[in-house]
Amino acid sequence: MALLISYTGQDTVPWVHAFRDELPEMDVRVFPDEGDPADVEFIAVWQHPHGGLKPYVNLKAILSCGAGVEHITSDPDLPEGVPIIRLVDEAVVHDMCLHGLHWVLHFHRGYHYYAENQRRSRWQVLPAVLPFKRRIGIMGMGQIGQRLAEMLSILQFSVAGWGLNDRQLPNGIKYFSGAESMGRFLSEADILINALPLTPKTKNLIDANYLSCLPRGAFIINISRGGIVNEKDLRKSIESGRVEAAALDVFAAEPLPQNDPFWTNSSVHVTPHIGGINYPASAAQVMAANIKRIQRGIAPFPVLDPRSGY
Ligand code: GLV
Repeated sequence: MALLISYTGQDTVPWVHAFRDELPEMDVRVFPDEGDPADVEFIAVWQHPHGGLKPYVNLKAILSCGAGVEHITSDPDLPEGVPIIRLVDEAVVHDMCLHGLHWVLHFHRGYHYYAENQRRSRWQVLPAVLPFKRRIGIMGMGQIGQRLAEMLSILQFSVAGWGLNDRQLPNGIKYFSGAESMGRFLSEADILINALPLTPKTKNLIDANYLSCLPRGAFIINISRGGIVNEKDLRKSIESGRVEAAALDVFAAEPLPQNDPFWTNSSVHVTPHIGGINYPASAAQVMAANIKRIQRGIAPFPVLDPRSGY
């Protein structure tokens, strides 16, 4: 019985230590030094090579090392019938919310103007808007979107959520569901936050047509995945002034190519996918709890629903 860690682009040593602490009985191995593939019952992955899960014929679960699972589901050669477990780590959820909050406050109080004015040695007080008059629209009401909605509503912003399915949100947060309500939802979003997962249904969802529904001078904060807001269309919306500024942490192609115009656009704030940091110790605790559940014959959670793609 072995747990294999396959984490492209990261130092796996802290992950090995963290998993050994959580699962002292487990034989923890690191890809590609996996030994006999038949020993591998659990695999903790981030961007494992496509087609590379087939040799693990005794897999009981594929555990994502991140919240997103499209790095797994985009593999056309996935083993059948093996549950894919998403990572919902409270530490990461909280970080992502703080990241979103940072940019909401930044745009709400016009700090992007003050930064520009400092470069010109210009002392100028700009008009402000009361928080409850600032309408914030959050697309994606999963753990992150919903927590952020609650935080912003405690801070007295006027918050609405949008998602694909019908649901009730706590604390009187307004909710729009389905494609038919998207235009209305966007028309009331002075600040639009994207917290949707990337699935075939959300890819390029926010295109030129939808961007034109936003109030003039809206702000966009993307914290979940690039490729949901069409980047070419977003560039045009910024040029036209429909979108005043954007804070983008995630991109269709990462790392953002050196020659991408977003780098030099003064209305775009680029960060390198740091909204949620993965902390091996806390992530391994959550993942190990799921492994223990499976070992005891209890269902792990949250398991990817192949119909919704998240
Ligand atoms: C990071 O983007 C993640 O999916 O956890």
